[in-house]
Amino acid sequence: MSSQPRKILVTSALPYANGSIHLGHLLEHIQTDIWTRFQRMCGHEIYSVCADDAHGTPVMLKAQELGITPEEMVARTREEHHQDLLDFFVEYDNYHVTHSDENKELSELIYNRLNDAGYISKRTISQLYDPEKNMFLPDRFVKGTCPSCGAEDQNGDSCDNCGATYDPTEMKNPRSVVSGATPVLKDSEHFFFDLPQFSDMLHTWLKSDALQNEITNKLEEWFEKGLQQWDISRDAPYFGFEIPGAPNKFFYVWVDAPVGYMASFKNLCDRTGINFDEYWGADSTAELYHFIGKDITYFHCLFWPAMLEGAGFRKPTGVNVHGFVTVNGAKMSKSKGTFIKGRTYLEHLNPEYLRYYFASKLGANVSDIDLNFEDFAQKVNSDLVGKVVNIASRCASFITKRFDGKLSDNVLEPELVAEFQNAQASISQAFEERQYHKAVREIMALADKANQFIDTNAPWVTIKDESKQAFTHDVCSLGINLFRILMVYLKPVVPKLAEQAEVFFNDELNWTSAQSVLTGHQINKFKALMQRVDMDKVNAMVDDSKENLAPTVTIDPNSPLVKDPIAETIEFDDFAKIDLRIAKIIVAEHVEKADKLLRLELDLGGETRQVFAGIKSAYQPEDLVGKLTVMVANLAPRKMRFGLSEGMVLAAGPGGKDLWIMEPHEGAQPGMKVK
Ligand code: MSP
Ligand code: ZN
Repeated sequence: MSSQPRKILVTSALPYANGSIHLGHLLEHIQTDIWTRFQRMCGHEIYSVCADDAHGTPVMLKAQELGITPEEMVARTREEHHQDLLDFFVEYDNYHVTHSDENKELSELIYNRLNDAGYISKRTISQLYDPEKNMFLPDRFVKGTCPSCGAEDQNGDSCDNCGATYDPTEMKNPRSVVSGATPVLKDSEHFFFDLPQFSDMLHTWLKSDALQNEITNKLEEWFEKGLQQWDISRDAPYFGFEIPGAPNKFFYVWVDAPVGYMASFKNLCDRTGINFDEYWGADSTAELYHFIGKDITYFHCLFWPAMLEGAGFRKPTGVNVHGFVTVNGAKMSKSKGTFIKGRTYLEHLNPEYLRYYFASKLGANVSDIDLNFEDFAQKVNSDLVGKVVNIASRCASFITKRFDGKLSDNVLEPELVAEFQNAQASISQAFEERQYHKAVREIMALADKANQFIDTNAPWVTIKDESKQAFTHDVCSLGINLFRILMVYLKPVVPKLAEQAEVFFNDELNWTSAQSVLTGHQINKFKALMQRVDMDKVNAMVDDSKENLAPTVTIDPNSPLVKDPIAETIEFDDFAKIDLRIAKIIVAEHVEKADKLLRLELDLGGETRQVFAGIKSAYQPEDLVGKLTVMVANLAPRKMRFGLSEGMVLAAGPGGKDLWIMEPHEGAQPGMKVK
């Protein structure tokens, strides 16, 4: 590592503004935050920015569902997300939003430059359109039958049953998830970004060490398939930025989302005087890293560098891709209670448990990270509480009570201290390379050594021996110094714990602090630094997660409402016009040539009505005679093929055997009003 201070800008992917921060997001934010804190402790000039990703169809629909403007929803969600992150001690230099002036300006600038350079073309395409909602439907808002295997209720782009991928227009029985309507094909002019023109540049870039091997390999596969023109426009209604010179055409959310990194930084620069161009100019020597999840690799490793290049900006130094969080070995699930929101976690558990646990599992590869609750509790309890914090609690009270809170002038085992200090090089390298699990493993091996040292010298025994006071003082002082070095190394991971330890040491910790030893130094009284993980609280968190299922925009595909949407809302007055009466069935008979109908004669307690009712599937006519039912008594008579129908019989049930028919002894009287 060079000793020159570096200029670095880092980003985390911008969370969508239509859902809460969950433990999956937190893996990324914690990964970024640890790296940022490490670099900053080393004395580098590092800025970290993030923002809420405000645009797109799901955000627009969610706001509609809540009955508020998207701007209002996004503003609220941004606040909530930012607070959630801060409560996990994830601190960005700026947490902005993509629906901002800076982002509009920069997105337009980049688009105009790309357009001027001839990278934008227009072409008419045909897409599925919801004729009820009057909007084009993104793939995920279309459901239907798989064209390959015939499985029903599949998504618009791929089949969960057979794995086929297809165009939503190829589906059988497609329907709009938004309204249930059958989509129609509609033409519209779209704008395309000429990605293939950047093939050579991208190929060279991906061979630089900007990317992990796994990612380079994945990109090679995509290259072999050939790069395509990228559709960057969406038609109104859309929540986003209008394309300059193209009314009612909007930038697709993925155009302005990465520009949001620049925009968040621009907002920071404008407030603090940092030089924007030093970080984003084409010849910038600053380092730029994006931390992202594997699902958004294509956007960050192909589209984004091409956009930057085409618009005359610098490209990222590195895109750091991580895998997905699974819980107890499976995809996070709302029904199992393992889809855990950051806020729900915070209501039960200490955020630093999670920071530590993720750090102990994070490497520089794209593997998924499993959060296993047993393992989580065990690791936090045995490592952080049992090993690290325990070192201090075993030594501190003797220093305070017997040696006036002052550490010894003498360093008892300089070789042991040297061993702790020498480990700094490889721990630094591990952090630098995002091999946090390696750093944690080394730190814990040192913690074991510190505990062995204390065990061997047993200060709780020697303290009772008057002749061994100086020795006891030295042992406890060394124990505290070893603990201090460990806290330096752990500070990027558990900043709050480190802060409490700093109060105790009466000393501020930065990366070079590990190379010094506190001698003859006054420390403060030790307070318990961290509680053990309580499994009951973990379980309570899981239970709460089962309950806090947020309403989502998408309707369950199996809901009857999809096939048969609820009719337009009526006012109470409309409903009150319907006169429901109890009617006694006095005649019930088959109707010739009718499959479903029975002819009923109904006694309304003074008036007799003939009704043709479609209830043949459920009842034999002879079983109905003498029974009571409910009828709409004021329905206008209707001429049917078989005769006049003077009302309607109401029945509930799936249409088989369970129609709503009452026995006379159930207390109703013909002609009674039903309320
Ligand atoms: N808005 C886009 C990103 C735009 S960046 C210019 C987006 N948002 S997201 O909210 O869906 O995801 C944000 C980040 O969280 C992504 O990097 C994504 O990979 C990550 N994760 C979302 N769920 C995750 C897990 N279960 N596990 C780990 N990371 C996950 O994509
Ligand atoms: Zn299929």
